[in-house]
This record gives sequence, structure tokens and C-alpha cells, in this order.
Amino acid sequence: MEVHRTAEGMRAWSGAQRSAGRRVGFVPTMGCLHEGHLSLVRVAKERGCDAVAASIFVNPTQFGPGEDFAKYPREEARDLDLLKGEGVAAVFLPGVAEMYPDGDQTIVEVTNLSKGLCGASRPGHFRGVATVVAKLLLVASAHVAVFGEKDFQQLAVIRRMARDLHIDVEIVGAPIVREADGLAMSSRNRYLEGEDRQAARCLYKGLCRARDLFDAGARDPEKLTAVVRARILSEPRAMLEYVEVRDPATLSPVRVPSDHVTILVAARVGPARLIDNITLGGQST
Ligand code: PAF
Repeated sequence: MEVHRTAEGMRAWSGAQRSAGRRVGFVPTMGCLHEGHLSLVRVAKERGCDAVAASIFVNPTQFGPGEDFAKYPREEARDLDLLKGEGVAAVFLPGVAEMYPDGDQTIVEVTNLSKGLCGASRPGHFRGVATVVAKLLLVASAHVAVFGEKDFQQLAVIRRMARDLHIDVEIVGAPIVREADGLAMSSRNRYLEGEDRQAARCLYKGLCRARDLFDAGARDPEKLTAVVRARILSEPRAMLEYVEVRDPATLSPVRVPSDHVTILVAARVGPARLIDNITLGGQST
């Protein structure tokens, strides 16, 4: 497995793969890898990629003041072992100065999709994501790039950005990978201990209640959000941020009964801010 710390080195690797007729897959990450990330590598392979690269970069511009940039777990050696075990062929591991060269002035902003949901409490977050992912996609020059559906709004922002900028890559969303008790896998689950870890299950439990209601015929978005809200509010250690019903394709708010919806939720549990979602009536996660 090759490790490249410069954009030039990474681009040369990708160019060589393409010249050799290989289909290049790309999995951008911030490291601290878990089974969810590794599933993205497998999805890239399932999509016919015979040369899969990953990137590890904790992107400072997507963290707001007071957020966890400084304490975000960094485990380079372990991450590289895991990626190697998964058959990843190359890893892009740039430093901040490589991604944001001295004097850089360019930002990428996906205006409307970045508003609301997580964008409401994390101003500038999706600007940071769109900017770094645009850079990563241009460097990796992959045929396919895979992102987890747990970050549903992020995925919508990235799809829009790649389309608007004519970046020649297929953006693929991969299903959420969950712990045995349903908690969506996330690097930030590391922050959860003891009772907080137990309490964190309330997000998925709430979503499951909404799914049961939907399966029983309920379509009213108010009713669907009400059961999720009630479940999370019943958990004293959780602080609900939002629960919303959105259109899975456009992310527009759903205000009338619909047969295909995504319910998105964010809550703070102890030191961790957690997000989760479920799509109902279509391919559910
Ligand atoms: O989802 C993540 O890990 C990050 O937001 C991403 C897409 C790698 C951009 O930094």
C-alpha cells in the first residue's frame, strides 16, 4: 500500500492506475477508522473499482470554534493497518499546509443544501466539507468516490458540489453501519462512556419507532417526528437538536404525507454530538 503525503504524489498514483486501465475508487475519511469506513472500501470494490484509495485528513475548516478539532482522535498507524487489511492500494495523508497552501483564498459553498439541519447549528461546517472534498476529489481523480449515508446532508452537499463543478466522478452513498444495539457507527462514539453510551441508543430507537409507525400506515410527517422526539426527550442524558422529515432525493422539507421520506435527527449525548437518519418507503438503512 502506497502512502502519499503530497497532492502531486497522489495524483501521479491515480494517473498511473488510470493509464493501466484500472477503475479507481476513493474513500475520503478523517481517520479514526471503524467498520463503517471499511464498508465504504468494500462498496467501492463492489462498484467495480480494482484500485481503491483512501484519504485521511482531519479537516480544520469544517470544525467551528469550540468544536472538537483539537481532540478529534488521530490514529495514523492503526488506520493504515486497517486500510491495508482491507486491500486499499494507496492512502493520501496530507498535512494542513498541503491542503491549504500558504495564502489560499478559495472556498466552495453549496448554498441552499448547507442551510438547516446540521448547517443550522454548525455555521460554515458544510463550506469546509465542500471545500476540502472538492480538493480531495480533484487530487484523487477517481472514477467513484464513496461516502456514508449517516452524514446524509453531507452526502447531498457533496453530490451537488461535484455536479455543479463538473468534477468527473460518480458519488456513491453507502448504507449506515450500526453497532449491535443500533447506534450508528461514528468516530465520535469514542467520546461516549458508561451511561452516555447507553443513552446514545435513543436516536436509533426513536427512528425505529417512526419506522414502525410508517410500516403501520402512518404518513403524517408531524406524527413521524413526534415519536422520535418523544423517545429522545425521554432520555435525560440526551439533548435533542432537531428531528425533521425530508425528501431523500432533494432534502426538501416534507410537510404533507409522503410514501418516501428520510427522517434525520441530531442530539447531544454527554460530550458527543450524534446524528442519525432512516429512509422509509424506499431503500431503508
Ligand atoms: O465524513 C467525513 O469523514 C468528512 O466530513 C470528509 C467527507 C472526509 C471531509 O473531511
